[in-house]
Amino acid sequence: MEGIRILKGDIIYSKSQDELVTMKDGFLVTKKDTILGVYQVLPIEYSEGLVEDYTGKLIMPGFTDLHVHAPQYTFRGLGMNMELIPWLNTYTFPAEARYADIEYAKKVYPKFVEDLKNSPTTRAGIFATIHVESTEYLMDLLEESGVIAGVGKVNMDRNSPENLIEETEETLRNTRKWLSDIDGRYKRVFPIVTPRFIPSCTNETMEGLAEICRETGLSVQSHLSENQSEIAWVQELHPDTNCYAQAYDKYGMCGSGSKAIMAHCVYSDQRKEELEILKKNQVWVAHCPESNMNLASGVAPVKKMMREGIRIGIGTDVAAGSKLSLFTAMADAVKASKMRWVYVDKEEEPLTVAEVFYLATAGGGSFFGKVGRFEEGYEFDAVIIDDSRLSEDELSLYERLERLVYVPEESQIAAKYVRGENILLHK
Ligand code: GUN
Ligand code: FE
Repeated sequence: MEGIRILKGDIIYSKSQDELVTMKDGFLVTKKDTILGVYQVLPIEYSEGLVEDYTGKLIMPGFTDLHVHAPQYTFRGLGMNMELIPWLNTYTFPAEARYADIEYAKKVYPKFVEDLKNSPTTRAGIFATIHVESTEYLMDLLEESGVIAGVGKVNMDRNSPENLIEETEETLRNTRKWLSDIDGRYKRVFPIVTPRFIPSCTNETMEGLAEICRETGLSVQSHLSENQSEIAWVQELHPDTNCYAQAYDKYGMCGSGSKAIMAHCVYSDQRKEELEILKKNQVWVAHCPESNMNLASGVAPVKKMMREGIRIGIGTDVAAGSKLSLFTAMADAVKASKMRWVYVDKEEEPLTVAEVFYLATAGGGSFFGKVGRFEEGYEFDAVIIDDSRLSEDELSLYERLERLVYVPEESQIAAKYVRGENILLHK
């Protein structure tokens, strides 16, 4: 029974985007950092295992926040009166420029990391800023927290303010310095190549980053087709392309050269070529519903992309999104899909709670490997939720999940396992 741990409680996880498993008083059997299986009756061979009794509480896979900007946490909830490009210039770039000062980073990054650690998120794709020292500091904090995260030093060498821009040669040199500084430093945190988006990266930078990806095998994260003016701007910058995704794909930076997360994809269905690139190259789309509403970007065609077999997860996109809660992001995804159904496309049914739960667990989790499901061989990431304040009536497990998604503030996290470790016990 070496290393066998059994979590007893009310289990919920997605087997696929069409199948949610719910099991009252079930047993989640794990060995060290790996899941062995879920059982209604504990198999005899595990009867000697160490049981952690969470009877009455919900046990679910940890959530993945597939797209979030750590430096923007300081102005979450502010400045929602603009669309993307003016919002970046007015609020975001001045806020990010402050991280040139490591003392500022030391003052504010701990709160972001603490709140992420205390949320139900176990994995995240995180943007830092262009600054190497502050980015490394953020990565050190994340490593200590126990959350598993891909983090990017951001690249910006055009169309950016004087205090938040690098020369082309400098942005590539700094990226290499960052990668060499952190080489071998972390167990849980890893680097992701992060061109901010096409308008802020010259062709030379894209070529240089593609070369880094080829040399290192690192993944890419960026933004794609978020806003109509942004899309028109990219078309001007890359007149030889017939969709935004091609401007990345030219450099192998949209899933063909290395794994890629593309945030938003609100308008990706308006170009057949773009949907094809996302599908063929197995790009992970990070759907960020609250952000897309706040910046009046639109509502992404999530159901259509799911039907096409495109990989999708959910992102909070703080600070265009105001909260780190994946529960709130799930509720927002459902609500936004209803507005899309009313105003845009009567053919696509709105998303269900079961579907958004799939996106927040298995969908985004798959970027990190075998993550986000309670199946044999998957990594042991789980959150245990005390939802007793929400159970005035006898509810099914599915109803409890629905309530949790809509009223998460009335629940509490009892434990949070990441690769087999209850990280809430970390100091
Ligand atoms: N596109 C380029 N940068 C950003 C950013 O910081 N947030 C969002 N939502 N979109 C972007
Ligand atoms: Fe973003």
